Amino acid sequence: MDNPDQLKEAAKLVQDSRRILVITGAGISAEAGLPTYRGVGGLYNDGRTHEGMAIEDALSGETFEERPDLTWRYLTQIEAACRGTRPSRAHQILAELERSSEVVILTQNVDGLHTLAGSTNVIDIHGDYRDLRCTGCGATQRVEDYAGLQVPPRCEKCQGVIRPEVVLFGEMLPMRKLDKLAQESRKGFDLYLSIGTSSLFPYIAGPMLYAANNGKPTIEINPVETTISPFMRFRFAQKAGEVLEQLTRR
Ligand code: OAD
Repeated sequence: MDNPDQLKEAAKLVQDSRRILVITGAGISAEAGLPTYRGVGGLYNDGRTHEGMAIEDALSGETFEERPDLTWRYLTQIEAACRGTRPSRAHQILAELERSSEVVILTQNVDGLHTLAGSTNVIDIHGDYRDLRCTGCGATQRVEDYAGLQVPPRCEKCQGVIRPEVVLFGEMLPMRKLDKLAQESRKGFDLYLSIGTSSLFPYIAGPMLYAANNGKPTIEINPVETTISPFMRFRFAQKAGEVLEQLTRR
């Protein structure tokens, strides 16, 4: 690490913080072997599907209504990339941080790895791909993976098309999870930590920028600069696991 003083100062902050908001994105799961959406090895790097459609359109709520087979084709690719993965060291360190602080994790990841690592207060704002729901009768089920699923899968009871409980492009965020985030935010945080996200969405960049504007301590861990980088008190341009290891070393 080329910034030992900054690391020391930030580690002291982590140690002294009673309540911490941690915002995570695909970068934290990259260390568990998952591809990110954008950047090096990103799933959306080509930008277009075989059908010549933008990947964001193929994975949109609108396309799902009209061509669920098409959306499901890309959902199965994402699931295949996630299958069999285990939490990274970074996921584990965040779970262990609960021993000394109250930790709320706001994640965009649909891979369930924070919970698997043992974190108990996770707001998975984009859902979890293992949770399925029938668009016809509303029946829900949890699956381990998508192996053996017909595409698009249909409900045994009503033949309705089944979908994963994830937020597709153009869809609203789940109100229940937004409420939970608002409730946690009202209690306040002593430290705001952003890890492995390109911070493209306002509800992800927002809490970090709010904190920065209000003089609260902020830390960003991302090898690449993002839109929030210039406003962060501490910025570490290294990998999540390496930095977290240093920040939580007593
Ligand atoms: P992105 O793929 O946009 O960004 C991943 C970020 O992680 C990039 O900024 C990388 O530089 C960084 N990164 C890569 N490896 C890292 C490492 N080892 N340690 C730390 N950072 C690393 O992923 P998200 O920001 O999560 O939404 O994307 C947000 C949303 O875009 C996803 O949830 C998904 C997608 O569209 C939906 O599907 C609704």
